[in-house]
Amino acid sequence: MNQDALKRAAAEAALAALHPGEIVGVGTGSTVNHFIELLAGIRDRVPGAVSSSQASTERLLRHGIAVLDLNEVIAAGRPIPVYVDGADEIDPSLAMIKGGGGALTREKILAAAAGSFVCIVDRSKCVDVLGRFPLPVEVVPMARELVAASIRAIGGEPCLREGFVTDNGNLILDVAGLEIRDPLGLERTINQWPGVVTVGLFAARGADLALVAGAGGIERRERSRG
Ligand code: 5RP
Repeated sequence: MNQDALKRAAAEAALAALHPGEIVGVGTGSTVNHFIELLAGIRDRVPGAVSSSQASTERLLRHGIAVLDLNEVIAAGRPIPVYVDGADEIDPSLAMIKGGGGALTREKILAAAAGSFVCIVDRSKCVDVLGRFPLPVEVVPMARELVAASIRAIGGEPCLREGFVTDNGNLILDVAGLEIRDPLGLERTINQWPGVVTVGLFAARGADLALVAGAGGIERRERSRG
């Protein structure tokens, strides 16, 4: 199976984790694009989705799936039992690097709003230690160089994602050279630098369930509690 077929297999497996009749949180990326297509096949059981990016919103609407406003959903007390999204890397504790598609801020918001985070990946995304994939950091434009200097001070090599503006009007610095042995500590550190909107480390709120597609089928990895 090629990588795209594995992504589709992981997306298929996520359908079983959904709660029929409930709103679904939808991430961003090529794996999620498969999920959106598959979701369209069961749209009679999906009252709507909350979306993590303009790109996913457009795709959901094209597939006839209603896109709901997160503020209205929360104000109405409606649950979002499951958020489905991909990852750029995932470690054994189900901490992740995300943001390869630049949607990390809205992805983190939806992950926080949902009852459960289901991560869909092919096996190539599984690593022992996060950091081979450059870590995306969304920054307010005027703070770009200030944040870049702080990144260099902790041993990272920041690189501006050329020609890219996030859905929130900000920039992305992709940070190479980090071996992330303490994802939660690094997430907290970078998050509190002025000018940082979001760091693409998802450790404080990692995945609850990873559906990993490999040559032998789907492996379910659950977050250990306690
Ligand atoms: C987008 C993301 C994606 O989940 C991540 O980049 C994985 O993408 P793909 O499914 O295309 O491999 O975080 O911001």
